[in-house]
Amino acid sequence: MSALTSYEPGAGRRAPRAYATSDAAHVDLNGTWQFRLDDGADTSIEVPGHWQLQGHGAPAYTNVRYPFPVDPPHVPDENPTGEYRHSFDLPADWPGGAAVLRFLGVDSAFTVRLNDAELGWSTGSRLPTEFDVGPLLRPTGNTLEVRVHQWSSASYLEDQDQWWLSGIFRDVAVMARPGDAIEDFFVHADYDDATGAGTLRVDTDVPARLSVPELGLVDVPAAGPHRIPVVEPWSAEEPRLYDAVLHTDGERIALRIGFRTVAIRDGLLTVNGRPIQFRGVNRHEWNPDRGRAVTAEDMLTDVRLMKQHNINAVRTSHYPPHPDFLALCDEYGLYVICESDFETHGFTVVDWRRNPTDDPRWRPALLDRLQRTVERDKNHPSIVMWSLGNEAGTGQNLAAMSDWVHDRDPTRPVHYEGDHDSGHVDVYSRMYAAHAEVEAIARYEEPTTSDPALDAHRRGLPFILQEYAHAMGNGPGGLLEYQQLFETYPRCQGGFVWEWIDHGIRQRTADGREYFAYGGDFGEPLHDGNFVMDGLLFADRTPSPGLLEYKAVIAPIRIDIDDEVVITSRYDFADTAHLRFVWTHEVEGVLVADGELDVPLVEPRETIRLVRPQLGPADAESWLTVRAVLARDTAWAPAEHEIAFGQRQVTPAPPPSAPALPPSVPAGRLDPALFDGTELTRLGALALRGPRLDLWRAPTDNDTAVYGPSLATPWRELGLHRLTHRVIEQQWTDDGFVVRSRVAPAATDVGLLTTYRWTADGAALVLTVEVEPDGEWTVPLPRLGLRMVLPASVADVEWFGAGPGESYVDSAQAARIGRFGRTVEDLQTPYAFPQENGNRRLVRWAELRGPDGGIRIEGDPTFELTVRRWTTEDLDAARHPTDLAPRDEVYVNIDLAQNGIGTASCGPGVLPQYELSAAAATWTVRLRPLDA
Ligand code: GAL
Repeated sequence: MSALTSYEPGAGRRAPRAYATSDAAHVDLNGTWQFRLDDGADTSIEVPGHWQLQGHGAPAYTNVRYPFPVDPPHVPDENPTGEYRHSFDLPADWPGGAAVLRFLGVDSAFTVRLNDAELGWSTGSRLPTEFDVGPLLRPTGNTLEVRVHQWSSASYLEDQDQWWLSGIFRDVAVMARPGDAIEDFFVHADYDDATGAGTLRVDTDVPARLSVPELGLVDVPAAGPHRIPVVEPWSAEEPRLYDAVLHTDGERIALRIGFRTVAIRDGLLTVNGRPIQFRGVNRHEWNPDRGRAVTAEDMLTDVRLMKQHNINAVRTSHYPPHPDFLALCDEYGLYVICESDFETHGFTVVDWRRNPTDDPRWRPALLDRLQRTVERDKNHPSIVMWSLGNEAGTGQNLAAMSDWVHDRDPTRPVHYEGDHDSGHVDVYSRMYAAHAEVEAIARYEEPTTSDPALDAHRRGLPFILQEYAHAMGNGPGGLLEYQQLFETYPRCQGGFVWEWIDHGIRQRTADGREYFAYGGDFGEPLHDGNFVMDGLLFADRTPSPGLLEYKAVIAPIRIDIDDEVVITSRYDFADTAHLRFVWTHEVEGVLVADGELDVPLVEPRETIRLVRPQLGPADAESWLTVRAVLARDTAWAPAEHEIAFGQRQVTPAPPPSAPALPPSVPAGRLDPALFDGTELTRLGALALRGPRLDLWRAPTDNDTAVYGPSLATPWRELGLHRLTHRVIEQQWTDDGFVVRSRVAPAATDVGLLTTYRWTADGAALVLTVEVEPDGEWTVPLPRLGLRMVLPASVADVEWFGAGPGESYVDSAQAARIGRFGRTVEDLQTPYAFPQENGNRRLVRWAELRGPDGGIRIEGDPTFELTVRRWTTEDLDAARHPTDLAPRDEVYVNIDLAQNGIGTASCGPGVLPQYELSAAAATWTVRLRPLDA
């Protein structure tokens, strides 16, 4: 076949058309097929699936770079080729006549033979391909042969940042096409926001009839148009669908119709007449065992998790998803930017020379991809925009693509980010722009673009961040500040976090422990490491702390508490009838009173003020928490599911009582502590070491920032991971013990002069630390705090502070003040690439205990806490969580502060207000022994 070197997208295929569920007979061909890879043995394989995940060859991950020479349209002779073979019978009641063989996704190029007849070939991995097969079918003993090549000329068009995985990875079926079948249809269901009327028209290739019983339309001509004086419109918040049947004498097609109108009005993107905000995510299809052969359960889980986390939009990066996912978006309510299967990012490595986007020979293939996307998915109300593709540079073919889609579907705006001049699109879209640049665009103050006409066009467009906040490892930080921009400036219509899920591949160590593999784990000569692990979900679909933070930041209800309770709706369409507002009053994290607020309906975008509940007196620090929870079960979460919360301190903490100092302190003792030289070695019955100054954290992916402004590199160059401690002076005084030291890395003259002042008040040991920078510090510090070593028997941590999950100064919206308890193990966040994690902020006090007793640490007023069974150095050295072995000690960091997290793994670093610069600082903690 010519697919390997052709500029054409395929041959022998049927024209693209709408994906539908019809009552025509069909045979599902999914299942176990015969398979051979290259010269390998004959074996079997599951379809749908990827051969690399079923024991043939190995997965390989690159982000931008092609794993073959950039020599279009040629691909290497070493081209893994799978020979698939499957025999099937038709059911006894098969109607005969015309029939279609449909592949929903084959990666990357394939030829098809049925009963020894060649049907044709195709490319476009994430797109459907259909062949006419009616005359070839036999009642029994049909043999389908599919030859699939890993590489083809089309691979140049499919350079998305993901694993290279091959094979028939979506469903295969044969469908009868009865006489008078409906080949293609296009539902137009518009909503008139001025009148509330709906207009319904279904274009069909053959005259067809339509029934929408709920609307009183029974067996009416599909072409209409039918004007319905009042309909309930569809939106992501209120995804109203009307069940319908489109039919001819030959076929009945089930439809779910959503009335909605998408338009750019006055420079803003509107749905049903109202500007909307995207609170979105970029979703690649992923299953840690099956790759992109996702299951129905995966799709439903994704949609439910998105809804549970306040997400209202999905960009189908960077290809059309399995069509069933879009049906779920219609049903559950998610706005979709549906993207064509197109990316040529690897040409950036050769300065975009010979980029297909600008080469007319590739135009048919690029149009083919876009047409197959739009034709397949055009009937989904959830799709509010078409995207031409991703990171494919610029060039003349963009115009052809944009013209085609505008002509075919004028009802949806067109998106493409890769051409910043935005001449062919209806929204101005960018990725990873820093907050300051977003603000400039928001104010229409961005620098001018290449020519005045383009500039005028672009300046009239609404703005979205189609990718931002790179969710790689710990982070992203700075989400709140993006959201504030989105909510301040109408032109900013939200964004899509990169990305939904880590693409980790489930593996096991020799001793059976599970981990998730990333680039390089399969011995690829060229790879991009863990850059594929950048999701809000871990690969097994466990929500990461980043997802919880995003949920809090984008909550559609905002609850502020001052003298009153202030409730602000960020909904565009829904009122608050689906919510209840419940409150608690907690003293030091212990519930003392609770109730429900009597809240009138809050209309979309409305703010109301309510009287605060009457609270009794408290003898310790107390907090009022108001939560918006679901009043009833929904399709995506049960009643009581929390949508948003707000908190306010009601009673401040009483000041710490002045220590009653012992009159004189014997050297080496400071009850209840024992020192050995300058080191604390015992507190009551508890053996310990430290605490001493610590600056190091295991760099996060955002600190390392392979593609961005790395902090880890200057930190390591400076030697912050190998500090030395030199005691300058130690002195026992009347009221305690003072140690002055200089803490500094080798090979440089900067350091921190550190004074530890120990006193005691009989029950508690009081430590005040003073730090003074010495020399020129030019980098922020990873952390500023104390490290202490406790015995391994310490197993449980209870604290009063922010929790229950981890938080960092620029990723702190999901954490609330309360009293929480975790085992040491459960304080860890198992990022696929080990890095700093598990920090608890604003800790007033923490008790770390085991069967042999423990320690209570009190802040003055607060500190940040990390507790783990391995050292920061162990964490830094590990490549997978399974590399981390518990030591015979427990390591505790008691920090004044940590540097922010930022999102520099792809995007801006830590915002200035969250940087921890080396500056003079003083803080105090109290340590008390706890009995066994
Ligand atoms: C973008 C790209 C995504 C992904 C991301 C980084 O440039 O569109 O596909 O590579 O960067 O993870």
